[in-house]
Amino acid sequence: MKQIINPKLRVIRDEVLECTKCPLYKTRIYPVIGQGNHQAEIVFVAEAPGANENKTGRPFCGQAGKVLDELLASVNIKREDIYITNILKCRPPKNRNPLQSEIDACTPYLIRQLKIIQPKVICCLGNFSSRFVMELFGLSDMYKGISRIHGQTFQGEYEGQKVAIIPLYHPAVASYNQNMIGVLKNDLMILGQLVN
Ligand code: URA
Ligand code: SF4
Repeated sequence: MKQIINPKLRVIRDEVLECTKCPLYKTRIYPVIGQGNHQAEIVFVAEAPGANENKTGRPFCGQAGKVLDELLASVNIKREDIYITNILKCRPPKNRNPLQSEIDACTPYLIRQLKIIQPKVICCLGNFSSRFVMELFGLSDMYKGISRIHGQTFQGEYEGQKVAIIPLYHPAVASYNQNMIGVLKNDLMILGQLVN
């Protein structure tokens, strides 16, 4: 499939490569800006780069990426069909949780990415991403922690942009809890039904 490059996403890439808006720039090797189809109907929003992603600048290139690929394969979706990004573009030291100040500094990039790509569906991986995306799309009242809302579909709207939002557990949890892969696959079936 021929990739159509969106120049507005390239502008964001160039800004992020030079970004110093929060202290995480000091310890990053490469930021992870996002990867995939610039015209994707489905965008995955995860948390932040890990050690492997920090070394390559590519999202989900490590262990959690293997889990993600297995999940996508289970619903017949290819990475090239979707776009994957994070709420934080640079790695927090030792993969600690994102700070609110970092989320505030970095998410204007994500908001711009979502406005450009205009996905129909956003899959949020993990608590921080689910909370941020649901709040952005006017669903603060529905956000009740990932263990209570995972696998449900919410209809959100932000500045006229309507999307279906599906909060999911972060695939990294499946690397230390094998039962989780079953939960994740089951939750993802809803996405398979929406798009296939
Ligand atoms: N975990 C994330 O949240 N994002 C990545 O890009 C990789 C691992
Ligand atoms: Fe900039 Fe985001 Fe990296 Fe912070 S995490 S330096 S805001 S790109």
